[in-house]
Amino acid sequence: MTDFDSHSGSPSVSDWFPEEDRGGGARGSGSRSAQRLAEYQRLRERCPVAWTEDNGGYWTLTRYDDVRDAARRPADFASGAPFIAMPEFGSQIPISLNPPEHATYRRLLNRYFSAPAMARLEPTIRGFVVEHLEPLLEAGEGDAITAFCQPVPARALSALLNLPDSAYTELVKEIADFERMGWDPNKVGAVIAQVFGAHIARVVAERRARPLDPESDLLSGVMAAEVDGRPLSDDTVTQIGVQLIAAGHATTADSLGAALYRLATNPDIQMTLRRFPERIPSAVEEFLRIETPLPELARTATEDVELHGRTIRAGDRVALNYGAANRDPEAFEHPSACIIDRSPNDHLAFGSGVHKCLGAPLARLELRVALEEILARTAEIDLAGPGTVTTGIMLSGFTSLPLRFRTR
Ligand code: HEM
Repeated sequence: MTDFDSHSGSPSVSDWFPEEDRGGGARGSGSRSAQRLAEYQRLRERCPVAWTEDNGGYWTLTRYDDVRDAARRPADFASGAPFIAMPEFGSQIPISLNPPEHATYRRLLNRYFSAPAMARLEPTIRGFVVEHLEPLLEAGEGDAITAFCQPVPARALSALLNLPDSAYTELVKEIADFERMGWDPNKVGAVIAQVFGAHIARVVAERRARPLDPESDLLSGVMAAEVDGRPLSDDTVTQIGVQLIAAGHATTADSLGAALYRLATNPDIQMTLRRFPERIPSAVEEFLRIETPLPELARTATEDVELHGRTIRAGDRVALNYGAANRDPEAFEHPSACIIDRSPNDHLAFGSGVHKCLGAPLARLELRVALEEILARTAEIDLAGPGTVTTGIMLSGFTSLPLRFRTR
């Protein structure tokens, strides 16, 4: 094997610090380190089907076309444990399932993320955004992550699942404890099951006793449904709730942090979006492309697949590197430039194919409303100091982002 036949495996904390933490200037690459981006480029150009012995051995696909194609072929590239570094992650619904079973659950869940469902949630989400924004703006300065980016998605999840609003503080604390563990593969599975599982199991028991309207309440709707002629067990309903919290918080918090970082380091983008707020949705897509908060998801080959002269054997683990694909110059002109009106922008930050993110409409809603409110209330947003970034086996994102605000 040549040097380019292999790659260095999952990211470690040390090689993901943002450029600016190493003195690289304010306009760095968000939470993507220059080293990581260079690795993406090397693999895309010279070894698009790369093998590493890390984590028991796995392949990584980095070219846009290959990643999207594999994501759209669930019969050949099956889902199971979603993260390479955690083969024992445990079954999560729907992300661990495969067709045709997967579709049954997606059908049950999709309606709670429909356009009308999101329109109903929007005023509530806007209220949360304003409530967490105002103290920051009044202070003129503060850490955007703890004050804003973490609580807003927790409250949004609370609202999505119709938890009492007071539950969100508990949820934020649990989530923060969980995220402080740095996504340690030895602890994450157990923590998800115990902490979020215990929380959701209590709510499931309450709903069993006093169901809400299944049309508007996700957990009551799932409980009222039948799969293969049988109602779902409490354990299954709990697993679904746990997956929504595990998948819907850090991803969105990291995206919010990355978007605020982009604004703070690009006064021209701030100005444009203040003047033309109707361009915010398109800017959100570009922030998601360039950041790709969930950069790598796992599959298992179900049969031998030939790709770029290499053979992926049945049973081999395969990482779909959405982060590298989103920076592929064959798919995106000037991929490192943040072009807020990029069109088309068929990025893979939410994946592709049957597992494409269920919560994407909610994440987009939160990001849009957050940017609308923050830009409408400020004349200037600035970095007030260097942020810190943590990277685990699944996500990377700001853990602190000191910002300074000049209000209108
Ligand atoms: C910006 C924020 C988010 C990002 C970047 C993101 C990213 C992703 C990605 C890349 C996948 C595809 C997984 C794969 O290919 O195997 C996915 C799936 C999923 N996401 Fe998200 N997500 C976000 C927010 C959310 C939210 C808010 C929720 C729920 C409230 C959520 C729930 C899910 C679920 C349940 C799946 C599995 C879908 C399936 O297997 O059918 N996500 N997400």
